[in-house]
Amino acid sequence: MPVSVVVGTQWGDEGKAKIIDLLAESHQVVARYQGGHNAGHTVVVGNEKYALQLVPSGVFYSHVTPVIGNGVVVDLPTLFKEIDTLESRGITCSRLKVSSLAHLIFPWHQAHDAISESNLGENKIGTTLKGIGPAYADKSRRVGIRAGDVRDAARFKQLVRDRATAEQKILTALGGETLNIDEIVDKFVALGQRLKPYVFDTVNFLHDALEHNENLLLEGAQATFLDIDHGTYPFVTSSNPIAGGACAGTGLGPRDISRIVGIAKAYTTRVGSGPFPSELLGELGDKIVDIGREFGTVTGRRRRPGWLDLVMLRHAARLNSLTEIALTKLDILDTFKVVRVCVGYEVNGKELAGYPDDSQLLAQVQPKYVDLPGWNKSVSAVRNYSDLPPQAKALVELVEQHVGVPVTIIGVGPERNECVVRK
Ligand code: GDP
Ligand code: IMO
Ligand code: MG
Repeated sequence: MPVSVVVGTQWGDEGKAKIIDLLAESHQVVARYQGGHNAGHTVVVGNEKYALQLVPSGVFYSHVTPVIGNGVVVDLPTLFKEIDTLESRGITCSRLKVSSLAHLIFPWHQAHDAISESNLGENKIGTTLKGIGPAYADKSRRVGIRAGDVRDAARFKQLVRDRATAEQKILTALGGETLNIDEIVDKFVALGQRLKPYVFDTVNFLHDALEHNENLLLEGAQATFLDIDHGTYPFVTSSNPIAGGACAGTGLGPRDISRIVGIAKAYTTRVGSGPFPSELLGELGDKIVDIGREFGTVTGRRRRPGWLDLVMLRHAARLNSLTEIALTKLDILDTFKVVRVCVGYEVNGKELAGYPDDSQLLAQVQPKYVDLPGWNKSVSAVRNYSDLPPQAKALVELVEQHVGVPVTIIGVGPERNECVVRK
């Protein structure tokens, strides 16, 4: 199975990076396909913890070529800071390839993100303020600047100056900040020069790798319910994290993909605004946040906690054609007397057939729960499925039954080897 996709099935932070790091051992290429430095992907190798925003999570293996695909929006200051930090810790990034077709993020994108959020007031999306939405908007408006543009330094300089000048007019009209255009041009010309050796025709590179029977792993950022089309609009990100986005975001075709691993936490979290049917507002929620250390890696914000929602997971299985599920952070529930799982939604006493196509309605649904008894012991040391407590197995089996997709990996700790892989 040469091409696999790893996709988040909830609202992000499911532990995608940990599973990608695990799977990367048997792959030669790991490619990000969408999103940008709004992502916070944590990988723990031994005693070392790494927080990645743009560099693909396969970078820790010397046999892996990390690729930033054409669907990603790239913030150059963040990319080089990340590369410098990784290299200072002994992780070589020289193999990294950045798609010539990937769009770049500029300071005006961040300025627009901030104004847009501020104008929305209490209806704000709660974005990461990284300029992600405005950068994708410019891509759609066909005024974006791409990584490949740095190949011609003089032209790149002019493109940056022209865009900065045009954006300044819009920002001024909106009451936004004044850009220091000369400073931005100089800074980005230098960053562009540094980017040059990393810029690549990644589309043909990936197809050539496929022709050489290499195994490719496509790394999703964000998640299914943050998808611009299928998520809880408008409380979403501005790209397509779903598995279908992996084709558009890398240039591989749908028939190239054979394995699609959906990552689900054994409970649910969400950062930012938007509906969340199984949200837990009381003490139990605080307990999940405390034990699960549910604070964003990018913004430090507290993640909103809730129970596992199988209505969502079932819909995610459809949207992504999941071939398997990795259920992560099972260990966080070790001390819970009862583990609740949402298995249906009701509105005015009537059960909905499935996940609704309406965020307003989603905000009103009453979740229907199944209560499972907790297992009351640590599962962190378990490596074989047969050694899991029966109560934990009951949770796994409920997921499989309800969603109709096998659970092949179970996370029992943050480290690379802390999981149960079912053969
Ligand atoms: P991502 O954005 O989906 O890659 O997830 P994040 O890295 O933002 O958040 C997941 C957090 O949970 C990270 O701190 C991981 O180290 C940690 N993690 C991942 N899997 C497990 C697990 O099975 N158990 C525990 N305890 N922590 C995990
Ligand atoms: P990873 O890859 C969790 C959320 C933001 C906000 C919404 C839109 O680590 O799972 P944006 O800045 O993208 O315009 O914000 O999306 N969001 C994430 N939430 N994990 C992420 O990435 C996220 N990336 C964006 O909090 O609600
Ligand atoms: Mg994250």
